[in-house]
Order: sequence, then C-alpha cells, then structure tokens
Amino acid sequence: MLKNILCIGAGYVGGPTMAVIAKHCPGIDVVVADVNAERVAAWQSGEPPIFEPGLKEVLATCLGRNLRFTTDLDAAIPRADMIFVSVNTPTKTFGRGAGKAADLRYWEKTARSILQHANGHTIVVEKSTLPVRTAEAVERILKSGDGDARFDVLSNPEFLAEGTAISDLEQPDRVLIGGAETPQGRAAIEALAEVYAHWVPPERILTTNVWSAELSKLAANAFLAQRVSSINAVSAICERTGANVLEVSRAIGSDRRIGARFLGAGIGFGGSCFQKDILNLVYLCERLGLDEVARYWESVVTLNHYQKRRFTERMIHAMFNTLADKRIAVFGFAFKADTGDTRDSPAIEVCRELLAEQAFVCVTDPKALPAARRDLAGAGPRLSFTEDPYQAARGADAIALLTDWREYRELDYDRIHAGMARPPFLFDGRNLLDAERLHDVGFNVYAIGRPELSRL
Ligand code: NAD
Ligand code: UGA
Repeated sequence: MLKNILCIGAGYVGGPTMAVIAKHCPGIDVVVADVNAERVAAWQSGEPPIFEPGLKEVLATCLGRNLRFTTDLDAAIPRADMIFVSVNTPTKTFGRGAGKAADLRYWEKTARSILQHANGHTIVVEKSTLPVRTAEAVERILKSGDGDARFDVLSNPEFLAEGTAISDLEQPDRVLIGGAETPQGRAAIEALAEVYAHWVPPERILTTNVWSAELSKLAANAFLAQRVSSINAVSAICERTGANVLEVSRAIGSDRRIGARFLGAGIGFGGSCFQKDILNLVYLCERLGLDEVARYWESVVTLNHYQKRRFTERMIHAMFNTLADKRIAVFGFAFKADTGDTRDSPAIEVCRELLAEQAFVCVTDPKALPAARRDLAGAGPRLSFTEDPYQAARGADAIALLTDWREYRELDYDRIHAGMARPPFLFDGRNLLDAERLHDVGFNVYAIGRPELSRL
C-alpha cells in the first residue's frame, strides 16, 4: 500500500487532482511541489491561485491533514513512493517542430531531478499530456543512473475540464492507466488503480499499454475539438442560408449515435489544450509519414481560426463596415465560463482585431480580468477594463459576448439598452442570450449561426 505521493506541478491539473486524491485517501500523505513560490503560497493558504467551483471546499477537507504544498522538490522526491508529473507542456516556439511539437523541457528537467534524488522503488506517473512514446524517453533517462533506484513509468492522462474539474475528478467517466505489459508494469498499474479505487468504481478504471494511454488522451481532445469545429462549420452555412444552428444541433444531437454534448456553436474553442494537443497529434502524424491524417486533424484548427475571424468580420460588416472610434463592450474574456483562465481564449484574438480596427474596447469578466490585463498589455489607450458589465456597456455602440458566463443571461438588458449609443448592436458569440427578447428590447442582434434580428 502506498504511503507517500508527490505531484510535481501545482497548476490547473496538479492542484485539484491531488486535493481530490488527498480527500479520498486519508492514509496517504500527498505533497505537491512547484517552482512557482507564489502559487505554492496561495495553495498552502487555502485560497487557491486558480478559480474552480468546489475546489476550496475540497481543499478544506485535507489541507494540513494529508495534503501540503512545497517549493522544495529535491527534499520531497526521495520520500515519495509514487510521483505524478503534472508540469506544463506548451507548444514549442522554436527549432524543429516549432508551432506544433510539444516543448518537453519542463518534463525532461523533472525526470532528471527524479533520477538525481529518488531512492528505492518509485512509480513515475505521467499526468501531463505528452506526445506518444514520451514514457519511453522518460524511462531511458531514469534508467541512465548508476545508483540502485528503480522506476516504473505509467501514463495516467487527465480528462478534467476547467470549470467542472472537481465534479470531473469526483465522478470521472473513466480513469485511464497505461503501463508496461510485464509483471512489474502490471504491479505498478495495480498500485495506481488502488489509489483511484478509493472513490472510482472499478469498471471505470481502464488499463492499457502505455502508448494507447498516451494516444487516447490526444485523440480524445482531438475528437472533442473536432465536434466544436464541425458545428462551427455548420454555423457558417446557417448564417448564409437562414437555417438556425440551435435547431440543427438539436436535430443532430438527438441521434443517440451522435449525442447532444459538445455541439455548441461559438466563437471557436480556446483553452490551453485543444489546439496544443491537436498540433501535437499533427506533428506525430507528420513524423510517422501519415500526411493525409495530419492534414485531416490540422483542418480542425484551421476552421477554429476561421470561426474567430468570421465573428469579427460579421461585426464589421453589420456596423456599416467600420469600427473606427466605435465603443465595443466585451462581455467575457475567459476561454469558457466558470474559470479565470484565458490561455488561448478566443477573446484575445477577437479583442486584438477590434483594436486593430481602431475601436474603443472595454472588457468585463467576473473572474478573468487580471489575466485579460496581462494578455492585452501594451494595447494602448483604446482599451479599458471594468468589473461592472453595466459600466462597460454605457455609451457603447455594441456588445460582443465572448464567454458563456451565466450571469450575463441575468443582466437587465432594458437598462443596458437605454444607456447605449444608437443603433445598438449585440453580437452573441455563444448563443447564450434570448435573441428574440433582446430584439424586442431594441437591439440589433447577431447570434452565431442564426439569422440576424435587425431593424436596419
Ligand atoms: P499549469 O501551467 O497550470 O501548471 C503547471 C505547473 O508546473 C506550473 O505551476 C509550473 O510552475 C510547474 N512547473 C513547471 N516546471 C516545473 C518543474 N521543473 N518543477 C516543478 N514545477 C514545475 O498547467 P496545467 O493546466 O495544470 O497543465 C499541466 C498538464 O496537464 C499539461 O500537459 C496539460 O496539457 C495537461 N492537462 C491540462 C488540463 C487543463 O484543464 N488545464 C486538463 C487535462 C490535462
Ligand atoms: C478540455 C477537455 O474537455 C478535457 O476533457 C481535457 O482534459 C482538457 O481539455 C485538457 O486536456 O486540457 P477544457 O479545455 O478545460 O477541457 O474545456 P472544454 O469544456 O472542453 O472547452 C474547450 C473550449 O471549447 C472552450 O473554449 C469552450 O467554450 C469550447 N466549446 C466547448 C464550444 O465552443 N462548444 C462546445 O459545445 C463545447
């Protein structure tokens, strides 16, 4: 039975995942180590550095009991029986594979630290999303030492989505564990499965070989993103034909073979992973000489860029082909609701385009303003921020709704309309609002994949 777990990386995955493990496994000491001292201090204080519904409550059950956070990685490694590695794996921006391949420097650095400080038998678990066959490379590094430390490497990709991380971790559709097909590999798989078995039903714990686990993670994200791009492609057809994407996605999603989820048309997918992981898959296919397969997956990302551009083009076109000196209130900057995360948020690209058109842009968001300020730093005096959506919309020519925060549904749009310039425009990039009612209020409404409701 495991006694000590270490997780390297206290980010969106490492923090919540370890909190849920610690909550359900009071007999296991869980330590989370990160190089970022500010992040560690925030976690340690019980006020996590990320916003995630339900996270603080889970932390409260185990912080200081069997969960702690530290910057002292070197001291934590030798005590651990099992080490999860959950560091970031961004897209490489330089050299071979730039723009597509994963930048594995953080991973390799961690593997070397583990080799240097571990003793006895340690199970190393890939939690980060990694290119297929990374486990093999990690194993080679770990086996290059001349000490008596022994390692098993498992792949245990994470499928949580931000905003629902706690419920995804508490009731996962599946937990996937990939390991070597040897007696020692099977024993390592069993040890990790026992941890999850504290709260996950056994039929939801799937075991595979390492490569299948690594590939399943990339493929799952590619499939999800592909659904979003597919419905967004349909939304473009709807806008040209008078079909309504809400009706079409309901009709498609009622087919049980297709299913209703992930058919929400919008301004394109964002977040730190979809694009990164698909490009990673594209790079893998290219390396394997599978060019047609690479182009197939790449088109999912191409369509996503097109969708973001299409949104601003529709705005420009509707507002008499010029946005110069017009005031645009941007409702929502996070890449989705219920998170303060703006990594790869479509709002970044949309706001940059609006500013390039010389509009005045006022951004509001319930959780993501600090990140928005960083993302748009240096944009100049045409850009402003406010926590208050009413203030953002005061005197504005248009509202561009970019994140599906529920609170935007509950605003007093009569009041907002009264304070706006004439004619007032509303561009709903998430199909969140009641377009017909807003049209009755007096807005010229343009919702994704739906006919415009305009008086002009
Ligand atoms: P993140 O950037 O929020 O967290 C990574 C953390 O690792 C950072 O705090 C960083 O300081 C730390 N770190 C980097 N190098 C380190 C080192 N050498 N030693 C100690 N700490 C180090 O990233 P994230 O969103 O948690 O993602 C982590 C991995 O999980 C990625 O591979 C991602 O693709 C994958 N993933 C993310 C999500 C998600 O929703 N964010 C979901 C599933 C999988
Ligand atoms: C996604 C996956 O859902 C997780 O399973 C995976 O673990 C994670 O990536 C990861 O590997 O990082 P996440 O990016 O947090 O999770 O959020 P999603 O709910 O998948 O949304 C991603 C983007 O797609 C958001 O911008 C969202 O607004 C958009 N989206 C989603 C749509 O435009 N339409 C939809 O119908 C669904």
